Amino acid sequence: MVKSAFRRTTSCAILPEEVAIIYHTQRKNVMKHFLTLADWSADELWRLVESAVELKTEWKAGGNPPLLKNKLLAMVFQKPSLRTRVSFEVAMKHLGGDAIMLGPDEIGLGKRESIADVSRVLSGYVQGIMARVFDHAHVEQLAAWASVPVINGLSDAEHPCQAMGDVLTIYERFGRVSGLRVAYIGDGNNVAVSLAQAAAHFGMHFVIASPQGYELPQAAVSQFHDLAARSKNGATLTLLHDPNEAVENADVIYTDTWVSMGQEAEAAARVAIMQPYQVNAALVKRAKPAVIVMHCLPAHRGQELTDEIADGPHSAIFPQAENRLHAQKAILVNLMS
Ligand code: CP
Ligand code: NVA
Repeated sequence: MVKSAFRRTTSCAILPEEVAIIYHTQRKNVMKHFLTLADWSADELWRLVESAVELKTEWKAGGNPPLLKNKLLAMVFQKPSLRTRVSFEVAMKHLGGDAIMLGPDEIGLGKRESIADVSRVLSGYVQGIMARVFDHAHVEQLAAWASVPVINGLSDAEHPCQAMGDVLTIYERFGRVSGLRVAYIGDGNNVAVSLAQAAAHFGMHFVIASPQGYELPQAAVSQFHDLAARSKNGATLTLLHDPNEAVENADVIYTDTWVSMGQEAEAAARVAIMQPYQVNAALVKRAKPAVIVMHCLPAHRGQELTDEIADGPHSAIFPQAENRLHAQKAILVNLMS
């Protein structure tokens, strides 16, 4: 449909730039991206979770079919990564495709070359782009100019792929996600925002305890209520400052670093103020006996999470890290196959 419209347009006497804008606008309207969980419906996201379960079962039973044969994913990183970088590349290979790593010094996104140009050039070479950026607007700009799907592999504002792996982990442990109490302890950061969006979609009771000044952003609070109203799954949001109160009756305790990538200059102040938010044995004891403890990793052991808990019986952190692979396979197949 887009192609024939493009042909019709080019037969008219209009400038090439105008053609490009019309073509780009039409592509944008049909192209699906994975930038934020807020753009997807609860049903669509649940289908991704089910697909992740199937792909994981299939992989463990011997392998996935080559659903992404001959497809290439460009992986653009402005920040470091272990899990995102490796799990996306492995996912592409398991599905018969491949991935190309483009590190921070290689393309100089928005510096050596504009984001619009990078996006259009990459769209000519690969069938999907995954990008880890500082400014969330930069993944949006990549998507606006791309004629292939763009996946947010973490921005300062959101980490949607992480939240999908997390939902998969919670579902595996409890056989459901709806109605569970998820207590997020610490900084109201990108990981907290995406997890809150997932909770709103899937009917979880999301409780977050953060120090004053480090709460979930107001926009994320409003968005939670919008998504919960849209999904009608009974999700609730509780904003607290007291971590002890937050973990009462929790099924899941979740934490993340106190100093996200890009906040290094604030490290001393953040570490000082977040001390009471450490997930340790005393805190975990206040939750349900079968509580699981989650962390997106990398963990700063001795700060937000103690060794005793990270390596103890409640910890789900390594299965959680593995589930990035299976959740992202579902996202890649949905967008690129
Ligand atoms: N959790 C996560 O995204 O890890 P990386 O920063 O190592 O990719
Ligand atoms: N909040 C962390 C998550 C790392 C995966 C960061 O942005 O650095």
